[in-house]
Amino acid sequence: PLNVIIAPDTASAFQRAATFLADHIRGAAHPVLGLATGRTMESIYALLVSDHQAGKLDFSQLTSFNLDEYVGLSPTDPRSYRHYMQEHLFGHVNMRPEHVHVPDGTASDLVAECAAYEAAIQNEGGLGLQLLGIGETGHIGFNEPPSAFDTRTRPVTLDDVTRRQNAAMFGGQPDAVPHTALTMGVGTILEARELLLVATGSSKARIVAEALLGPLTPDISASAIRLHANCTVILDHEAAAIW
Ligand code: GLP
Repeated sequence: PLNVIIAPDTASAFQRAATFLADHIRGAAHPVLGLATGRTMESIYALLVSDHQAGKLDFSQLTSFNLDEYVGLSPTDPRSYRHYMQEHLFGHVNMRPEHVHVPDGTASDLVAECAAYEAAIQNEGGLGLQLLGIGETGHIGFNEPPSAFDTRTRPVTLDDVTRRQNAAMFGGQPDAVPHTALTMGVGTILEARELLLVATGSSKARIVAEALLGPLTPDISASAIRLHANCTVILDHEAAAIW
């Protein structure tokens, strides 16, 4: 069930991932993609944007749901994931605004926002392909340890490790990173019909090995992907070093 691809170099890992996503967008009548953020995804989105600009990839039928968002940041805040998506993908392709979904971290009732997000995914027939990165705590989305494998979209408290890892977007100051976020749950992610996890670079080698070879545990939410029937993992040589 777990199909692991070790690319010869980082650029080809990104290329394989972009091709995988593009094939899904082209292959489904009503493609529904789960999207991720983080540095890893920037290069992948850049490749999709250039395919679109070359007239090779149409986004008009695509519906997307992002994994997560910081609590308290507005969609136009440059540090928000909604803004990240605008900068790296949505602003450069022909997606319809009504097809784009990112959890609203400014909702007055966060629990209700999460329930509405789950309902919106169901309304679209569920997630076709969910793109995933991996954080240094072993999280997928913002499912920090411990995150049970049946968790749903919900508010979570961010781990200090994650707040340090993501500080670059906040002027390099971990203290400026929000303490809470909204994230799809591990259970929400596992219900996608297909999963694609991408990790590159030596900083990910240890956690990739733990997630893929260690125990299945809520303490490393990425380990849950091994329970999925149709999951592909794309690594570069550095991220696969301990493999
Ligand atoms: C954030 C996101 C995760 C992502 C992780 C990895 O924490 N919430 O979904 O996987 O960053 O980020 P990077 O690609 O920058 O290493």
